[in-house]
Amino acid sequence: MRIYRAKDEQDLARKAANIMSAQIIMKPDCVLGLATGASPVGLYNQLVEWYRKGDLDFSCVRTVNLDEYKGMAPDSPQSYHMFMWEHLFSRVNIRPERVFLPDGLAPDSNTECLRYNAVITGLGGIDMQLLGIGVNGHIGFNEPGEEFAKEVHCVKLTESTKQANQKYFPDGRMPDYAYTMGIKSIMQAKRILLIAKGEKKAKALAASLQGPITPEIPASILQLHNDLTVVADDDALSLMR
Ligand code: GLP
Repeated sequence: MRIYRAKDEQDLARKAANIMSAQIIMKPDCVLGLATGASPVGLYNQLVEWYRKGDLDFSCVRTVNLDEYKGMAPDSPQSYHMFMWEHLFSRVNIRPERVFLPDGLAPDSNTECLRYNAVITGLGGIDMQLLGIGVNGHIGFNEPGEEFAKEVHCVKLTESTKQANQKYFPDGRMPDYAYTMGIKSIMQAKRILLIAKGEKKAKALAASLQGPITPEIPASILQLHNDLTVVADDDALSLMR
C-alpha cells in the first residue's frame, strides 16, 4: 500500500490525476473503474484540463462505473450517469459507446446485475479502479456487513449513506436501493486508487487501512490488495497511527 499525503484539495486532485494519467498514457485502451461523489470532482477537472492542453487522449479509453441508483433514469439530474457526463465524459474525447454504468431503469434487478458483470468481464477486467470512501467505510455502495465475495448486486442503502447523500436530493426523495460492483469486482481490479478528503472520512480511513479486516468496514478488505494507492489530505489522515 502506498499512501500519498496531499497538502490541500488541489494537491489531492493533481496527485490522483497524475496517477490516473499515467495509467492512460501507459495503456491508451485501459479500462478505468470510475466513481462519483464529491471526492473525485477535482481529479476529473484536472484530467479535463490536461486533455484540453493536449496531454491526454481518451479516444481508446473504456470506463465502467462503480454504481448507480436503482429506479433512476439516466437523464435525471441526480443519476450517476448524469454526474459522469457533466464532470468528465462530455468534456473529453471519450467515445459514448465505451462508457458503461449500471442501468437504473432495468426492469429486473437480477438480470441487470448479470448484464453489468458480463460488461466488466467482457472488457477484460479493470486496469485501475478509482474509489471514494463513505463515512461508514463503504466503497461503491457496499455497505457494512456485505459479503466480500459478491460481484455486481443490488443493495438496500443504509440510513448513514442516505443521510450522507441527502444533500443531492433537495426534494428528500432519495432512492432506497442501488446497483453496485461488489467487493469481489473491486478487488479484481489490477490497481486501486482510493481518495479521501476531510475529517469526516478520518475514522473510516484509519479503520479501513489500519484496523482489522472485517465486512463491518467494507474498505478494510483493500489492505489485501497488492496494488493499492491512497491519496488523502491531512484531515482524512488525521487518525492514522
Ligand atoms: C456514495 C458513492 C461512493 C462514494 C461515497 C462518498 O455513497 N456510492 O462511491 O465513495 O458516496 O462520496 P463523497 O466523495 O461525496 O464523500
